[in-house]
Amino acid sequence: MPSHREPGGEPAAAAKGCRTATPADLPAIAVVHRAAFPDFFTTELGPSFLRAYYRAVLEYAGGVLVVHEADGAVSGFAAGFCAPEGFYQELRGRKLQLAAALLPTVLRRPRMLRRIVHNFRRGAGDEPVGPSDSSELSSIAVAPAQGGRGIGRALIEEFVRRSGEGGARYVYLTTDADANEPVIGFYEAVGFTVHHTFEGYAGRRMHEFRREGR
Ligand SMILES: CC(C)(COP(=O)(O)OP(=O)(O)OC[C@H]1O[C@@H](n2cnc3c(N)ncnc32)[C@H](O)[C@@H]1OP(=O)(O)O)[C@@H](O)C(=O)NCCC(=O)NCCS
Repeated sequence: MPSHREPGGEPAAAAKGCRTATPADLPAIAVVHRAAFPDFFTTELGPSFLRAYYRAVLEYAGGVLVVHEADGAVSGFAAGFCAPEGFYQELRGRKLQLAAALLPTVLRRPRMLRRIVHNFRRGAGDEPVGPSDSSELSSIAVAPAQGGRGIGRALIEEFVRRSGEGGARYVYLTTDADANEPVIGFYEAVGFTVHHTFEGYAGRRMHEFRREGR
C-alpha cells in the first residue's frame, strides 16, 4: 500500500469525491467489489447478485450507499443501513429477485446453495443484528489501484455522518478476528474499536467493531 500523504492534501481531496450512489453506479460498484474482494463468498455469488444486493441497499429507506469518484470513475464505495433488522426483512422480501440473480451461479456451482441459505437466514436469529438506532456497515471497498490515498477513510467518515443523520447512535460491522490484520488495522485507524467477539459461520471467530455515530 502506498505511504501516506501530507496533512490537508489528499484526505481533503478524497472527502470531496464522496457522493450518494445512484442506480447508474451499481455496475461500477459490483466491479470494485469483485476487484477488492477477489476470494470472497459474495464475489463468488456473481455480478448480477452483487448488483441486486446493492440495489436493495439503495432502495431501503435506511440504506446508506456512498461512492467515491475519481476522474469520472467509481474508485470505492461504502454500503450499509440504519435500522438493520428492517433491511434484512426487506432482503427476505426480495427472495425471488435475489434467487433469479443467483441462478447462473447456482447452476454452475450447486454446492454453494448451503452457504447461500445460511447467509439468507442471517437476521432470522442466526447472528445478532443491531438495534433500530444502529447502522450496519455491510461492506467498504476501494479499487486496489486507488488504495492508501485516504479514500477508505473518507468513505467511512461519510458513512458515519450519514448514519448519524439517519438516526444511528453507532455504526457497527463484523469481520474475522483471525488472520485479518490489514482489515482490523484499517478499522482501528479510522476510529472503530472491538465491542465483542463471537463465533460465526463454520466456527469462524468474528469481531464486532463499533464507532459512535454522533
Ligand atoms: C480496507 C480498505 C477499504 C482501505 O481503503 P484505503 O483507501 O486503502 O484506506 P485509507 O488510505 O483511507 O487508509 C485509512 C487509514 O487506515 C490505515 N490502514 C489502511 N490499511 C491498513 C493496514 N493494513 N494496517 C493498518 N492500518 C491500515 C491507513 O494507514 C490510514 O490511516 P492514517 O490515515 O492514519 O494513515 C481497502 O484496502 C480495501 O478495499 N480492501 C479490500 C476490501 C476490504 O477488505 N474491505 C474491508 C472489509 S468489508
